[in-house]
Amino acid sequence: MNYKKNKDVISNILRDLYGHLPEFDLWLLKIFKIIDASIDQRPAYLLDLDNIRKSYNQDWYLKPDMMAYMCYVDRFAGDFSGINKKIPYLKELGVTYLHLLSALKPRKGHNDGGFAVADYYATNPKYGSMDDLEKLTRTLKENEISPCIDFVFNHTAMDHKWAQKAMAGDPYYRDFYYFFDDEATTKEYENTLNEVLPETSPGNFTYFEETKSWVWTTFYYYQWDLNYKNPNVFLEMLKAILSLANKGIQVFRLDATAYLWKKKGTNCLNLPETHKLLQVFRAVMSLAAPAVCLKAEAIVGARYISKYLGDTAGKKPECQLSYHNALMAALWDSLATGDVLRMSAMLKSLPQKPLGTSWITYLRCHDDIGWGALTDDEGASWAANKDDLKKLNDFYEGQTEGSFARGQAFQISRKDAFHGTNGTLASLAGLEKAMECGNEADINTAISRIMMLYKIIFAFGGIPLIFMGEEIGLFNDYDYNKLDPVTDDRWLHRPALPDNNQVENVKLKNTRRQIFSDIREMTQLRKKQPLLHADVPTLILDSGNSHIFAFVRKCPEGLFLVLANFSPESQKLSSEFITKNELSIPLIEQFTGARYDLSQGLALAPYHCIWLKA
Ligand code: GLC
Repeated sequence: MNYKKNKDVISNILRDLYGHLPEFDLWLLKIFKIIDASIDQRPAYLLDLDNIRKSYNQDWYLKPDMMAYMCYVDRFAGDFSGINKKIPYLKELGVTYLHLLSALKPRKGHNDGGFAVADYYATNPKYGSMDDLEKLTRTLKENEISPCIDFVFNHTAMDHKWAQKAMAGDPYYRDFYYFFDDEATTKEYENTLNEVLPETSPGNFTYFEETKSWVWTTFYYYQWDLNYKNPNVFLEMLKAILSLANKGIQVFRLDATAYLWKKKGTNCLNLPETHKLLQVFRAVMSLAAPAVCLKAEAIVGARYISKYLGDTAGKKPECQLSYHNALMAALWDSLATGDVLRMSAMLKSLPQKPLGTSWITYLRCHDDIGWGALTDDEGASWAANKDDLKKLNDFYEGQTEGSFARGQAFQISRKDAFHGTNGTLASLAGLEKAMECGNEADINTAISRIMMLYKIIFAFGGIPLIFMGEEIGLFNDYDYNKLDPVTDDRWLHRPALPDNNQVENVKLKNTRRQIFSDIREMTQLRKKQPLLHADVPTLILDSGNSHIFAFVRKCPEGLFLVLANFSPESQKLSSEFITKNELSIPLIEQFTGARYDLSQGLALAPYHCIWLKA
């Protein structure tokens, strides 16, 4: 899109959102001044990157060589300079995209793992200065790793200078947030709102004695929701993101994207105005920092997530990337039940994502597994009910007979509400328990579960993401409660990365090495598969066996079939599957090179996943 066209898009959307306000035209001029200044200040090396990505490398984030890694800087490498030293480790694993959690200056004390930002122009002092971050982003770029940070733009910390001024009664800054003098109004909103942290931070509003008023706090009391109805909030956040883009950040993870706009009588999630805000952020980025990608963190029901990638026709683009939290939760559901019917039905019901967009496919991240993704507010037939969620909750807490998991329930405030589960990938998939018992067969089974899940997210259609420590199968950190100032049980699955060379237990050391090298092999193999480009459609197939998950990546150039057996028993795929899906050609398994003639049917070992290509 050219400069003029892009400017029109920006003006039109902003006019829709704010055109009714007095002095809109003057305000719009300010916005364009900010954009132009940002373009002027963009460093030459980033302008070069912009040009490359605008011309011959437009699909850089869709390519099969993309692989993401997500870490807390201190827990992974100490500080920003420590990350430099870890670059060889990341490259060995095949990482091309690095998400640094909690990179910006958080408030002191409790800060929700860095998600309460006190200053968008300063870095987390534990990690280093803005100059250090800038140096790091440059070095990462030279190493072909795209740096990503969180842009926490739904709320600021209550310690942010805007919030402080608002608290002191400054009307200009009070209007940056939602203040209510009467509790009755907050109650009216509450009637239709959900609770994100029902146990540790119930409700969506916090009363502050200092101002004798309630403030909108969707998350913790110290995270104040921004009021995007105020155009100056948009203006300030735009300035902040543009300044960070010029520091060399290539991907912004837009935190809590779904909550931006509020409207009484709704659940204040996924509102049309929220989408418009994202469209305008995207249009501004295309103009001022086209090398940058926006990534939605919209942990909402399946039917809503693809909307964050824009409309299917690609006329109203939003984020280029979005977490596929519904796939993530469904994979855990299937692993517990051994049954893939809900997952297949849910995925089938979703529209194809727009061209030029990509999912972030993942198994775990720093948050809990939110079971809400398996429910549906329009009553889809695949949706899980409370009993299903209770079973999952119990299974992953290890309470169910035969459960291999070692997890913990998160935010259970009411006995009938099953919010989420905490735990690392390895602990939830059974490796922790198996390692404790020391039984070789159980250890191998747990590793098979992990690799099966990885093979799915590496082939599904998007950028696979590894959360730090997964690559060596780290277990839960049961000491998290001893840390100060930890108050949040999600720290269970955020262990620091140990040095594997120091590990004395040989079995553990070898298991870690094996997982690392299996993932590395997968990354290498994935790179060579053009059919795993994110624009190749993903079609969910009916395998005819409720334990076998089947999908195909298919385009005129060929097909890539993935089959995964979620059950602890060996499972058969009948020859009908092949004829029904017109797959009766010899296929080659990509890891082993073995030739498969599916017209004869197929037996899949427990937790086995194969990648077949014509
Ligand atoms: C996102 C983050 C989560 C945080 C919340 C509030 O969901 O992933 O960790 O608690 O936003 O910022």
